[in-house]
Amino acid sequence: MPKGGTRKGAGRPVGTGRFGERVVQLCVPESLVPQISEMLAQSAANAANNRPARRTKALRDLPLPPPEKVRLDDRIDALEQLTKLRDEGTRAAVVMLDPLYRSPRARGRANYLAEMLPLLSLAGEIADHVIVWGFPLSVARLVDHQPPHLEVEGWITWIYKNSANRARSWRGAQQVALHLRRPSSKLQYQSFLTDQHREMHSRGKLAYLMTHRDIIIDEPLLSGFIRRSEQTGFTGGQKPLSVLTPLLQMTTQPGDLVVDPTAGSGTTGEAAVKLGCSAILSDKSPQSLKIARVRLAQWLTS
Ligand SMILES: C[S@@+](CC[C@H](N)C(=O)[O-])C[C@H]1O[C@@H](n2cnc3c(N)ncnc32)[C@H](O)[C@@H]1O
Repeated sequence: MPKGGTRKGAGRPVGTGRFGERVVQLCVPESLVPQISEMLAQSAANAANNRPARRTKALRDLPLPPPEKVRLDDRIDALEQLTKLRDEGTRAAVVMLDPLYRSPRARGRANYLAEMLPLLSLAGEIADHVIVWGFPLSVARLVDHQPPHLEVEGWITWIYKNSANRARSWRGAQQVALHLRRPSSKLQYQSFLTDQHREMHSRGKLAYLMTHRDIIIDEPLLSGFIRRSEQTGFTGGQKPLSVLTPLLQMTTQPGDLVVDPTAGSGTTGEAAVKLGCSAILSDKSPQSLKIARVRLAQWLTS
């Protein structure tokens, strides 16, 4: 039986260490353990003394993607950012709003509406689609309060499998995203057709063209796993690419602009650019911006 439980691929293969290096097990007489431990400690200390000083790049030295792909704005509140973009005449396909809000108390609930409704209204002025993330009880309050220029398109339920958040309850937390859109907007459900569908469609053999509603029914529960390559150490509710990507596929075409004024670790930017879109990211927290900047730089140079 493989190590690490029954899940296929779990655990580290026998004979390898934490970082994939080869390891061997040695047996030594118990009487020699103190002497060997001392030798190992001495050799570790020597190695540490001889190691060149670590050179960590300053934030300003990290490469940034070309601004026509991802623009990472300086620290700014979401309301201010959306107002600015609206006043500049920015047009985006979609605005992601993921401010992380969970406040079950009455005052918190009132604050939530007071904070979110202006954001939704501005987002709906800039973009055809607005996707709001959060805890079900908070987001549900928005359903009957959306601004008049937006209508509810769908309610997406998904589940965190490995959130980096320290609060254990979060890891399995079932979360939601509410998809609002302007009545005139389009849904890009053709992104979900398979090659076989496309081929049949081109021959006029696909009598029934799949719509976005079939896709939602097809996959009612998105399951989010933050892969190792996308782990940033951000503990404020990083969303997995596997959850954001289909939503962007549904709402954008290559070349479109995506705006995320609560960008956190920058998942929206990465997902957008991978789909051939551009993105404007911002956040009010310098820590989040730093993580997003490191993420974008690493991804650029990898
Ligand atoms: C849940 S995280 C976003 C996670 C992001 N979607 C990701 O995948 O990494 C929420 C972020 O929103 C930011 N935020 C919350 N309220 C904000 C506001 N009023 N203006 C700007 N940023 C805000 C927080 O600083 C935090 O970085």
